[in-house]
Formats: sequence, structure tokens, C-alpha cells
Amino acid sequence: MLGVVQFQFGALAACVVLFVPMAMAGWHLSRNKMLFFSGALFITLAVGVHLTPYFPSISSFVSSVSSIVVLENRTACISLLHNIVFDVKPNREIDDLSNLDKFEASWTWARSAPVVDCEFQKLGRGDASDLLNGSWVVVAGDSQARLVVVSLLGLVLGSEEMGSIQGDLFKRHSDYQILVDEIGMKLDFIWAPYATNLTDLMRDFKQNKNYPDVLVMGSGLWHMLHVMNSSDFGISLRLLRNSVVSLLPVSPELGNDGPVTGSVSIRSPHVFWLGMPVLVNSMLNTQQKRENMKDEIRDAYDEELYESKILRRSGGPLLYLDARSLTQKCGKQCTVDGMHYNRVVYDAAVHIMLNALLIESHQKL
Ligand SMILES: *[C@@H]1O[C@H](CO)[C@@H](O)[C@H](O)[C@H]1NC(C)=O
Ligand SMILES: *[C@@H]1O[C@H](CO)[C@@H](O)[C@H](O)[C@H]1NC(C)=O
Ligand SMILES: *[C@@H]1O[C@H](CO)[C@@H](O)[C@H](O)[C@H]1NC(C)=O
Ligand SMILES: *[C@@H]1O[C@H](CO)[C@@H](O)[C@H](O)[C@H]1NC(C)=O
Repeated sequence: MLGVVQFQFGALAACVVLFVPMAMAGWHLSRNKMLFFSGALFITLAVGVHLTPYFPSISSFVSSVSSIVVLENRTACISLLHNIVFDVKPNREIDDLSNLDKFEASWTWARSAPVVDCEFQKLGRGDASDLLNGSWVVVAGDSQARLVVVSLLGLVLGSEEMGSIQGDLFKRHSDYQILVDEIGMKLDFIWAPYATNLTDLMRDFKQNKNYPDVLVMGSGLWHMLHVMNSSDFGISLRLLRNSVVSLLPVSPELGNDGPVTGSVSIRSPHVFWLGMPVLVNSMLNTQQKRENMKDEIRDAYDEELYESKILRRSGGPLLYLDARSLTQKCGKQCTVDGMHYNRVVYDAAVHIMLNALLIESHQKL
């Protein structure tokens, strides 16, 4: 990129050398003066262009210009990550099983032009393992977050291994930890149904001075069901936002390219917010849920999420995994209880997250 900029600068210089003296000639300079002027200009510009890399302020300006271009592109692609389509078909082979098995669902990114240009990829086991090799991943939240863990582990583990851990993973209301030896990936699921629980988790990270590489958080359903007060939810989100910001070594505005202090570059964690799914009221399985989890209340909770400025789209530090849009697209066929969805939805969310990680770490597989 720097080379390209230098080349363009050089071309500009050549034009100046050519045209400025010609304009000067219009001002009746003698031919000799014009040659002298042209030569002096040429030498000055040539020396300038070639010395540019040795003057840090100039070359850092040039490279900051080029990284702004790249950054814009990255931001554009990140905003396109949710352009996903689901294909939900009746499952013809089985006719009398539970609701989820009645439909077969698959997902893919939309095939429209800007989305295709971003080259998002469905990662296989090998690619996902490469990407997550040696990292510490923490997923904290409610049952939605637990389902994200299932999808993520499903991607990096074989199906036999997956079968053997399902029991532990699904103990209700408990934490879960696993070390995937082959890739040295540590994954923690932290049961944290309320935003205040997440704030406590941030405090613990800070106290231990130990931060995960990837952090996925989400909560709201419990608050809606048991507190049903969206402004109180908003307050807890603002507290959480402040604790995340104080945890991150970089301010959110600067993106995730860690700054350099001395010679040590600080790595900053990638933090995601898992939104709430669409709640299909008629399918919710208790009276309390049907009363407290109505659409208008849910909307008020989403409004608070936006207002709290915890999400990057409203200037905060967390990248949104928009479960609402995903579950809406997959539809009622993808849920049995109006709240927990088919694996395909969480698979898509995990791939949005992994592709965001790829984009942010400038990696291409
Ligand atoms: C932006 O991304 C697109 C798609 O990956 C690519 O074709 C284009 O060259 C990129 N532009 C810049 C300025 O990096
Ligand atoms: C993980 O990284 C280590 C060292 O960087 C490497 O030796 C190992 O092969 C990697 N494993 C996988 C599965 O990529
Ligand atoms: C989560 O927070 C709630 C309310 O602040 C508290 O009652 C509960 O014990 C916490 N749960 C966990 C697992 O920390
Ligand atoms: C909702 O929460 C706010 C902030 O915690 C509180 O001031 C308000 O009284 C609560 N509203 C109700 C109806 O409980």
C-alpha cells in the first residue's frame, strides 16, 4: 500500500515538474530560467519522495491514510455479516417426531454483490481450529449463550467427543469449562443470567489481570421475565459498558489494533454481544413467560440495549451478534418453545463471530 501511495506521489511530482514550468513560461520567464526552475523543482521533489520513508511523521501519515482505507473496507464487511438466508424445508424422512425434526434448516450468506465481495467463509473444523488455536474463549450469559457454546464446540470437536460432553454442558444453571487439547483452546461457559453477573465477571478479569482473547456475552431474557423493567435493564447495561471499557486496553473508537506502549504491544480482547432472539409468544411454555415477554416489552428492552451505547453500532465496544434478525429469518419452524432455536441459528451466529475475528485480525484462510 505504501508503495502505491509513493508511486502516486511520484506521478504527481512528475506532473508538477512538467506543468508548473510550462505555466511559468506563460509568465515570460526566459528559457534558461525555466530550465533551472524545472531542474530545481525536480530535484527537490525527487529528494522529498525518496526521503519520505525516513521521516516517521510523514510516513506514518501516509500509512495512516492507507489504513483508513483498509479500515473502511473492514467496517463495511463487518456490517454485512448478518446478510444470511435460511432455507427451511419440511423433513420428509421423519413424519412423527418433535417439532424441530419436522423441518430441515440450512443457512448461507446472501449471494448479492457486496456480500460476495467480502468473501465470508463457512469454516470447517480445520480452519476453525487454526483460528482459535491457543486462545481462551469465554462465553457468558443465559441459555442462548449456552447454545452458542454448543455450536462452537460442535465446530472444533468431533461428533463422538461432542456426544460425551453434552451431559455436563447441559446441566442447568451451571458453569462449564473445557480444554480442547489438540488446539490448546480453553473455553469457559459462565452462567450469568443478568447483566450484573456479567459486570461482576469483568471485575474478576480485571482483578486477576487475565483477559480472554474472545468474549461473548448476552443477557436480557431473565431480566425481562423476573424483573420486567426495561429502564432498570438499561441501567445495568450502562454499568456493564463502563466496566468493559475500563477493561479494554484500547478505547473502542480506535478499533482492535492494540496500541504500542514501549515495545510491548497490548493485545485487546474481541468482545461480542449476543442479542435476544425473537420470542414467539404463543409458543412460550409458561403463563408468566407469555405475560412478561410480550413484543412491546421486548422492544423496550432492545431500545435500552441501543441507548446504553454498549454496542459498537452505537459507539460502544461490543460487536452485535443480532440473534433477533437471525431467528426472525429462520422463523417459527426453527423453534419448539418460542425462545430456544434450532442449532442452525446458533451455527450462523458462531460463523458471524468467527468471520468478524478473521476480518479484525486481517487474516484470510
Ligand atoms: C475492499 O474489499 C473488496 C472486497 O474484498 C476488495 O475487492 C477491494 O479491493 C477492497 N478495497 C480496498 C481499498 O482495500
Ligand atoms: C496450534 O499451534 C501450535 C503452535 O503454534 C502448532 O504447533 C499446532 O500444530 C497448532 N495446532 C493446530 C490444530 O493448528
Ligand atoms: C446474578 O445476579 C443476580 C442478581 O444480581 C444474583 O442474585 C445471582 O446470585 C447472580 N448469579 C450468579 C451466578 O452470579
Ligand atoms: C424500574 O427501574 C428503575 C431503575 O432501577 C426504578 O427507578 C423504577 O422504579 C422501576 N420501575 C418499576 C415499575 O419498578
